[in-house]
Amino acid sequence: MSEEFRAVTRKKWIARRSINPRLRRLSERCNEKDEKEVDVDAFLKRLEQLCTQMVGSDYFIQAMETVDESLKALIDNEKFSRLVCFGIGPFSRNFQALHQLAFIICTQRHYGIDEAIYFDPVFRESEKQILQRLNCALMSENCEAKYSVDERTLFYLPHCPNCLTNNLLWSNWRPKCLKHLILINNSFESLSLSKTERLLRLDSSYILDVLPYVKEYQLEDDYETHNVFNDLSVHVFPMASLPASENSFWNKREAPTYTDVEMISAEEFGKLRLT
Ligand SMILES: C[S@@+](CC[C@H](N)C(=O)[O-])C[C@H]1O[C@@H](n2cnc3c(N)ncnc32)[C@H](O)[C@@H]1O
Repeated sequence: MSEEFRAVTRKKWIARRSINPRLRRLSERCNEKDEKEVDVDAFLKRLEQLCTQMVGSDYFIQAMETVDESLKALIDNEKFSRLVCFGIGPFSRNFQALHQLAFIICTQRHYGIDEAIYFDPVFRESEKQILQRLNCALMSENCEAKYSVDERTLFYLPHCPNCLTNNLLWSNWRPKCLKHLILINNSFESLSLSKTERLLRLDSSYILDVLPYVKEYQLEDDYETHNVFNDLSVHVFPMASLPASENSFWNKREAPTYTDVEMISAEEFGKLRLT
């Protein structure tokens, strides 16, 4: 037995022993042994058909109008340089995630965005292959959405844990970065009305702080099936609406930490990969 093999096996053994019940459930969900990987070619054909239906749907047409309207608030005519998608979900096994994938592929094509990057810790091998066949890049590390930008970037985080959006805001907590973000995710307005401020502060403090300055455009959800695109909005941060860059509002704060959240942390992801 090679040294390398022994080292990996031992690492896996240690990881399995230290795995907590939540992680064990996650690991089982990712590896569902009785479920076969999908046939990539057949899936891609089905996805193309779904994309054809998607571009003709009222939902998509209205959504593109809403994104266009949100872009007008940014005044400059900068083009999207990239699309980043966090937490779309296991799209070969989940209806909502599949339709969201068709939506975001059509959006990428609509705006002619060259680069698309995806990350979800639950992607299985065939899902990664499908994205690669679509010329999309995959993040290999779990950055927990701590991803900062200096060019106009479209982020898609449909129905994702609040702390992912909170981390994204924290990473871009300066007007010159925030102005580049176009965010399609859970409505900030609905979130702000859903719980008390004390509870929201636990995982959404950056979302709460930026609320007075964000411009939100609700995406009308008249899609043929429910619970796929409900409660999503486009959020933009026009420079003119933000506090001035020298304002103490932007003072650098420690990276947010969370207890009891839905997000799969980088540490948990490391253990998941070893199970
Ligand atoms: C509530 S599900 C939403 C799935 C799908 N978009 C939907 O609307 O049904 C949240 C998703 O976030 C993903 N997620 C959790 N931690 C993440 C992380 N650190 N980075 C990216 N995605 C993450 C989960 O794996 C899951 O697919």
